[in-house]
Amino acid sequence: MIYLGNARDRCTRTRSRRIWAAMLVGCATLPFAGSAQRLPSTPLTPVQPGSQWRDNRGRLIEAHGGGMTLYRGTYYWFGEDRSPDNRPGMRYVACYASKDLVHWTFCGQVLKLADPEHLGPHWVLERPKVFVDAHTGRFVMYAHIDDAHYKYARVMVAVSHRIAGPYCYVKSFRPFGQESRDIGQFVDDDGAAYLIFESRPTKGFFIAKLIDNDLNVEKTAFLLAPLEGGSLVRYQGLYYVVGSHMTGWKPNPNVYAVAPSLAGPWTHFKDIAPPQVDTYGSQSTMLFKVVGSRKTAVIFMGDIWKPKALWDSRYLWMPLVVGKGHLRLPSPQPWTIDVKTGVTTLMDRVSARTAAAPCRAGQGCLQGIAVGGVPQEADRDENGWALECRLWSGRVFGHADDSISAMRYCVAGCRRASPRAHGGRTWMQCENSAASAPLSRFRAARTEVPHQNTLSARTGNQGALRP
Ligand code: GAL
Repeated sequence: MIYLGNARDRCTRTRSRRIWAAMLVGCATLPFAGSAQRLPSTPLTPVQPGSQWRDNRGRLIEAHGGGMTLYRGTYYWFGEDRSPDNRPGMRYVACYASKDLVHWTFCGQVLKLADPEHLGPHWVLERPKVFVDAHTGRFVMYAHIDDAHYKYARVMVAVSHRIAGPYCYVKSFRPFGQESRDIGQFVDDDGAAYLIFESRPTKGFFIAKLIDNDLNVEKTAFLLAPLEGGSLVRYQGLYYVVGSHMTGWKPNPNVYAVAPSLAGPWTHFKDIAPPQVDTYGSQSTMLFKVVGSRKTAVIFMGDIWKPKALWDSRYLWMPLVVGKGHLRLPSPQPWTIDVKTGVTTLMDRVSARTAAAPCRAGQGCLQGIAVGGVPQEADRDENGWALECRLWSGRVFGHADDSISAMRYCVAGCRRASPRAHGGRTWMQCENSAASAPLSRFRAARTEVPHQNTLSARTGNQGALRP
């Protein structure tokens, strides 16, 4: 279905042009707290992977499955707006602007769509990405559009004359007649723009160059690997593609391949992080390159999905260790970026602040890295510590108070603790206690431990019990 002729009519016009213009001006001119306005001595604000990330209004950033567009020196982050107060039949894309990639100004819900293809209740609009079309000066948004059963499998196109919208729905289509679900975005160093899309029946994914004023695609490359969450970056003459396995909202070990050109030959896929950490609970959505005066940083943008509260899903952004055909996602920790120089710095805040406090006699311990999230009240102990823990293959994933941190849980009255699967999660359970229960039921204390060795963190009471 092509709505190009009356695309403007199909825009949701709940606000007047004047309000939109005002919002745009706000987006473009608000003073950013980032590096552009920083005094030389002002410390950079760290990105806190996995923690609540708030915009200039103090509200949670709603830009899930997002994409990033650099336009005239400002970064624009687009993504799924899953706010709980959204109208149920509508789908929304939000846009945020930043000069420093850390402080974000809300530009509005730049796409508001009321089921343009009659897909029915629970229809899907996911992973929006915005391209700048150099020829027309227009901004072109792609997204995955689908019915509740993910059978429609098409890409949607919407356009705007302003980067901060509003975007008008144009059409949906299946690229080359192929099913298309997760999409990704890539702009090469020569300015050529590409859509990445996963196509299940082909057991692989496509890289497709945008043509016809970015309203269509032409086939560029096909990778025979059933991966989604496809993202791509060119770094020092090599292309690195990252994708996730198809496990829905559940995290899995994301993988990468490398090639000298988009057409290949591509290497076989390797893990971007130790496979047992399941990409630290996240899924790739974009690899974003920041070219600075001193360095070029490649940022992994991932989503930590919370399927039961999608609006509260978190973002795991980390600078990648990349080069010479290798790529690695470091364990999540606070980090800073100076977008002017491209220099990123990992901040080992935990090791800087605390030392490991050994557990007392009779306490079982588990230790590892916690991927953040604000836990439910029920998951806190009487001291307010977050206690919910999940273990995968010997690594601990807990929901920490604020963000990601290494931690040690000391469980009183628990001489030997071991993992036990329950309700889709693995909990620590005391083996010697009649009161076998999830960790959260125990009176416990949490101490943070140095962050350095989180990847070799151990679980159970190994090495952490004092006689
Ligand atoms: C994931 C996909 C998400 C969403 C989800 C639904 O695999 O990456 O964007 O579609 O499945 O289950």
